[in-house]
Amino acid sequence: MINEIKITELEPEKFIQEKISEIRDAVGNGTAINALSGGVDSSVVTMLGHRALGEKLRTIFIQNGLMREGEPESVVRIFRDLGVNVEVIDARREFIEALKGITDPEEKREAITQTFYKKVFGRIVRESGARFLLQGTILTDVDETVAGIKRQHNVFAQLGIDPQEAFGYQILEPLIQLRKDCVRVVGRALGLPEEIFNRIPFPGPALAARIIGEVTEEKLEVVRKATSVVEEILKETGAFQYMAILHNDRVTGMRGGKRDFGMQIEVRCWDSTDARTATPTRLSFEILERVAKSILEEVPGVVSVTYNIAPKPPSTIEAV
Ligand code: XMP
Repeated sequence: MINEIKITELEPEKFIQEKISEIRDAVGNGTAINALSGGVDSSVVTMLGHRALGEKLRTIFIQNGLMREGEPESVVRIFRDLGVNVEVIDARREFIEALKGITDPEEKREAITQTFYKKVFGRIVRESGARFLLQGTILTDVDETVAGIKRQHNVFAQLGIDPQEAFGYQILEPLIQLRKDCVRVVGRALGLPEEIFNRIPFPGPALAARIIGEVTEEKLEVVRKATSVVEEILKETGAFQYMAILHNDRVTGMRGGKRDFGMQIEVRCWDSTDARTATPTRLSFEILERVAKSILEEVPGVVSVTYNIAPKPPSTIEAV
């Protein structure tokens, strides 16, 4: 049973000091390693680990080819500015190979998990000799995994998988008592820039969670462009999370006076505090029209743009 820390109980400075000592005590004279994606959770863990361990922590950014436009570069720059040296590993080929031919959502997540832990990150960890892995699992990840709603990629322990046995290292999860609202408060207290601690959540499987059906480089290109448009326009709403999803089915449309059997983008924009439940944001039709117009202009091959109005549950925030 995990002892939840609620936002009303959270004392960020005290929490930070406690976690720093816990990390130091666990790691001792050893070394630790962590993977940074640039999301709120992994960023907060990176700063906690950096404060606790300094040079004894190696922070790796895995370029899996599933990230948003310019994301690897901006994350690395932000952390270099904070004094954290981030190593970038280019694993684009391995991820796209692993995803080839897979259409089932859980199999996709599994392929990403296995590629990430066993192949790419697992290899780096084994070669590094680090025995400790710092990971940004939060309480919502645990709840939803235990409830069988979705298999989050980062909660082996809760699934009864021994990471030491399965992967050869021990996982430290300093954020496991927190939900997203608390993680943001801790991030701010750690001195992370607002663009990080107030960043909308982004899932571990990245843009692969936003492509229905097989993930290919071409589809990634489409969903990446649509994501840039949606994020640029919807950031002014202050909503909890917003995204573009590329559908698998095509629909008839027309372009330049010709029939075009084109792609469909579904836009989602959520109001939520902790991602456990969520409702679609009541966007004005004016904003929706701006989003549609920009997607249709800037993303070649798209002929249909829809807005999802189903709440979670029964929907989930991501489509995959
Ligand atoms: P769902 O789609 O389950 O998402 O309603 C709830 C929240 O979690 C994010 N999410 C993930 N985060 N790894 C993560 O670190 C994942 O595999 C993953 N799947 C979903 C999602 O973006 C939302 O904020």
